[in-house]
Amino acid sequence: MRGLRERVLITAALPYSYAPRHFGHLAGAYLPADIFARFKRMKDVEVIYVCGTDENASSIVIEAMRRGITPKELCDMYYPQQKEVFEKLGISFDIFSRTSKPIHHEVVKEFYQKLWEKGYIYSKDVKQWWCPKCRIFLPDRFVVGTCPRCGAPNQYGDVCEVCGAWYEAFELKDPRCSLCGSKPEIKTRKHFFLKLSILADKVLEYVKDKKFWRKATYNKTMAWLEKEGLRDKDITRDYEWGPPAPFPGAEGQVIYNWAENLLGYISATKDWAMNIVKDPERWRRFWLGKDTKLYCFIGKDNLFFHTILFPALLIAHGDYILPYNVVVNEFVNLEGEKLSTSRGWVVWLHELLEEYDPDVVRYYAAAIAPETRDTDFKWEDFMEKINGELIGTYGNFIHRVLTFLYSKMNGIVPKPGELDERDEEILSSRIEFAGEVERRIEGCEFKAGLKTILRLAQEGNRYLNETAPWANPEKADTALYVLVQVVHALAVISAPYLPFTSQRILDYLNLDKRVEDLKWSDVEKLIPSGHRINKPKPLFRKIAREEIDEKLRKLELIKIQKKVGD
Ligand code: MF3
Ligand code: ZN
Repeated sequence: MRGLRERVLITAALPYSYAPRHFGHLAGAYLPADIFARFKRMKDVEVIYVCGTDENASSIVIEAMRRGITPKELCDMYYPQQKEVFEKLGISFDIFSRTSKPIHHEVVKEFYQKLWEKGYIYSKDVKQWWCPKCRIFLPDRFVVGTCPRCGAPNQYGDVCEVCGAWYEAFELKDPRCSLCGSKPEIKTRKHFFLKLSILADKVLEYVKDKKFWRKATYNKTMAWLEKEGLRDKDITRDYEWGPPAPFPGAEGQVIYNWAENLLGYISATKDWAMNIVKDPERWRRFWLGKDTKLYCFIGKDNLFFHTILFPALLIAHGDYILPYNVVVNEFVNLEGEKLSTSRGWVVWLHELLEEYDPDVVRYYAAAIAPETRDTDFKWEDFMEKINGELIGTYGNFIHRVLTFLYSKMNGIVPKPGELDERDEEILSSRIEFAGEVERRIEGCEFKAGLKTILRLAQEGNRYLNETAPWANPEKADTALYVLVQVVHALAVISAPYLPFTSQRILDYLNLDKRVEDLKWSDVEKLIPSGHRINKPKPLFRKIAREEIDEKLRKLELIKIQKKVGD
């Protein structure tokens, strides 16, 4: 084998386990990461794609309290749902772990013991909000108030959703208990701090040569480091849910969610090694192998944590590799307005999947991927893109070729006559298009990759219309031979995007191949003359106008309710 086999570790943001995931999450993290993972596997890269639920957040403790159940019970309800939705969508995680698992607690313990030993942690007395009515401390989401930096009202105690500032809960102005609304009292507690300030230079050095990151990601990270710098951070919390803080004198405290959830990527990999491949040391190749490329896929609300905090933690610890690329996506709005899950202004994945083929959902999510700016989920546009592009261009081409071959040529791939220039051109274009899709995926330009696939289908359609085998029997054998190769090529290069469809095409082509076993180089393979195909069916169901009108009516109702509520 030439050189070393490339090794890639892919992560997607760990979903909180107290609410379902919506379309924006799919388009912003899980799908691009999945396209990337599937593509890399086809390239014979040593790759794992890890994820799992983020179960120790204060928001989970709060939601559980609201419902009168334990955080564990809440997480146990959502974990299977999350897992199922991702499976239905064909998101090919090698492991979907949970941060409530003992393995995660062990990873966190080892990690922070080491940071303690290396002198990155110190304790000091700090003032904390305390709710006299609920009789609890109020960190993070337990408290709401005014952002100390930009003055935005109704912000939580950790991050301002308006200006992105990251502060201590005690800095919040006009605080209120988010559970009961009481004005909190002040109590003094001993807490443990991470010396982020002394890591700032090293993080800057790390980020500096990441010019190949998406522009906005690089610029935002640099701006943060240059303008905000890094302040030491309180990483302990006074409640019982989550990995215990392993510091002398920290009994009864847990590690702050954003100081432990990121380590979930490591524990998920260990979980995979132990329980999926049953080779407990295998995680080391990924996290300790200096030549492993770690790609983290996230939405922009998680940017700071992945481009600054995570590298800082990993640098402090010293053993693990750092992210090679943090692939950050913007948001997907709905019909021109920001999402609001509480108002129902959102498209839930589990609801979409009740009506639509997972590849239809994947197609639209890739087609409107918010790679460089916020995009908009619009039902009208959804219908146009699915009916016009996915079905009209891609599906139609494949279906026309396969039905002609099946019904007019007995389903047997014909023996071509002499290939003319145009035939050769089309045949070689499938390799060129594959090359372009490859470059796009490598560069994390997934939307452009999808467009390229569509262009190959367009080329195929054009060639089919030119050769018109139904009217030119003397050209039919050659044309169909060429066309079936293009269909096959489409099945190969769309496999990372549309795995279910790709599988259906392989089945119609009677190739006895699982989409997971396809190689990218299979695009060059030719289906031989004499090969018999199966009876094809249409690949997709057309979306009807009424379905869309119905969706829009429901959204109208939400708008009216909002006006009444205002
Ligand atoms: N749970 C967070 C969210 O949904 C993402 C956490 S990513 C992690 O926004 F790696 F830090 F866990
Ligand atoms: Zn309270």
